[in-house]
Amino acid sequence: MTNDAKTGAPAKSGGTNAMWGGRFRAGPAEAMTRFNACLEDDKRLALEDIAGSIAHARMLARQDMLSGDEADQIVDGLARVREEIVSESFVWSEALEDVHMNVESRLRELIGDVAGKLHTGRSRNDQVATDMRLWTRAALDRISGALRDAQAAFLSQAEGHEESVMPGFTHLQIAQPISYAQWCLAYVEMLGRDGGRIADARARLNESPLGAAALAGTPHPIDRPSTAEALHFERPMRNSLDAVSARDFALEAVGAASICAGHLSRLAEELVIFATPQFGYLRMSDEYSTGSSIMPQKRNPDAAELLRSKVGAIGGALVALTMQTKGLPLAYSKDLQETKRPLMDALDSLEECLEITAGMIRTMTPNPEAMARDAGEGFATATDVADMLAARGMPFRDAHHVVGALVAACEERGCKLHELPLNDAQGISPAITQDMLDSLTPLESLKRRTSEGGTSPGSVRGQIEYWRGALSG
Ligand code: ARG
Repeated sequence: MTNDAKTGAPAKSGGTNAMWGGRFRAGPAEAMTRFNACLEDDKRLALEDIAGSIAHARMLARQDMLSGDEADQIVDGLARVREEIVSESFVWSEALEDVHMNVESRLRELIGDVAGKLHTGRSRNDQVATDMRLWTRAALDRISGALRDAQAAFLSQAEGHEESVMPGFTHLQIAQPISYAQWCLAYVEMLGRDGGRIADARARLNESPLGAAALAGTPHPIDRPSTAEALHFERPMRNSLDAVSARDFALEAVGAASICAGHLSRLAEELVIFATPQFGYLRMSDEYSTGSSIMPQKRNPDAAELLRSKVGAIGGALVALTMQTKGLPLAYSKDLQETKRPLMDALDSLEECLEITAGMIRTMTPNPEAMARDAGEGFATATDVADMLAARGMPFRDAHHVVGALVAACEERGCKLHELPLNDAQGISPAITQDMLDSLTPLESLKRRTSEGGTSPGSVRGQIEYWRGALSG
């Protein structure tokens, strides 16, 4: 078969497509060729596509649909195509629309007509579904690794800071003292659940559509379990119609990615705030900060700001996938071609975000003095007084009221709770004692939070140990 000089496509009469042009007299309009193609996305599926083809060819030989010699020719040819793609000498043709037809067409140039036997018992519909699942599986595996890296970075920040007090906030108002380690560990937990969602998505997607053919299966005696196994899928998908139509694996992966990106965005916002000179709790390393071209004093947390923003596009990809797949009849419709871009964009972006997160967290420097300064502000230990009064029998609601009055008295005097003269305090409630006032420092408050999961050093050490074990396993 000769190639069309302009497009590089295998020519048929009238310039129609060699793969499906049998019933056409004219080729597509130029604009249609461009509109119809998906090469930019498909180039990234090339290795998966070839792996699927090799598994399929070997199976065809085992099932006596190809001779051993034919299968060897096809597999060797596919290996050569793979080399050309990896070394970037492969010439892609837009007229051939996608990776499947580009690879097959090149295979035919290299090994002749026997290449045409490869497409027995399969279709591009099950091919693309297979390629996408393989690609997504690998991307999710990289993301899992990146998540663990980011968790390890937080864990290394936490260690040794079980007694470094910082203010915990609600409504971004100083609420109660916590330790810096407890703050770090909150993110280790969030990222841990993100990892769980990624693992769930991976487990559910790991079934093989290959051999579903166009939609209804095939009359050829194919062996789907063996191709599934060769591609490290758990099993073949049970229903051919579903196998070629399903894209919920992409939605699920991008859904999990969106949630994770949302977590990173919350983190990023805290980093931006904590790195301001006003807060000064954290100093981002030079590697993840930038300067201003006009204001020499500036040290901007650009990495964190970009991180805060990326969820926009990742969540946007989830919306795109949802809209692209809603209302589609079974089985394949060309709409599905468009699902590759948001899937790839979202998972690429999340992987990059996690790499940046790990680097940023690992290299940032906490400033325990600045955190401690604020931990003692804002009457952060007011709840402690109420808890102590309640523990000594006063109804919590009354205790809450007493402490409100104590805070007002402190505000009038311009002092902190533990600095309030006992006389003044007892004027508000005789139940207040000096040892109560003395124990209102942020560190004492933190040490009292001994409930499971609380911010006491013992609880925090338990969390650190748990995660050290979990992340080394
Ligand atoms: N290029 C197509 C895609 O990516 C491959 C499947 C085409 N199938 C079809 N019946 N036109 O979705």
